[in-house]
Amino acid sequence: MKAVEIMYRFTDYYCNEVTLSFDDHPFSRNPKHVWVICQYHNKWLLTKHKERGLEFPGGKVEENETAREAAVREVKEETGGVVEFIQYVGQYIVAGKGGTIVKNVYFAEIAELVVQHTYYETEGPIRLACIPWNVRHNKQYSFVMKDDVLKHCMEYIKKECQGN
Ligand code: GTP
Repeated sequence: MKAVEIMYRFTDYYCNEVTLSFDDHPFSRNPKHVWVICQYHNKWLLTKHKERGLEFPGGKVEENETAREAAVREVKEETGGVVEFIQYVGQYIVAGKGGTIVKNVYFAEIAELVVQHTYYETEGPIRLACIPWNVRHNKQYSFVMKDDVLKHCMEYIKKECQGN
């Protein structure tokens, strides 16, 4: 018998509808966006986007690249982090005014930080012992950290991924 599928539906910082699921690629086999919740030596590893602020690294999947490959590349580009373990967590869909995007979420453990010549549109790695509980009202943080995707994924990771 198939397990009951749970979908979470909520609105994001910009009032767009978001649907999140921890099933295996429920919305698209080939999502065009990735987001990677990174852990490095018992700290969270984020980046500081020059416009959006603090966020876990991520970005767009390039042609001839899988979503998982994009996740590993984006972590390296935006933080210098070398991924030693990566696990699919879930997928979400955002119905925005300008169109719909589908994003895979991963959990990654980082082996080392290698200094990069450029961190592209970010200011590079930021290590945090914990994510503040009031991140939604904190101007330093990116809008992608300000909806229930973060909360649900952190809970999922705590239960299903950590200690691997
Ligand atoms: P470029 O195409 O590179 O200029 O970036 P963009 O931000 O305009 O486009 P992108 O395809 O990355 O995102 C399009 C829209 O989708 C954004 O403006 C957001 O409204 C929304 N979006 C993208 N990623 C997320 C996310 O992780 N969470 C939420 N809630 N919305 C997102």
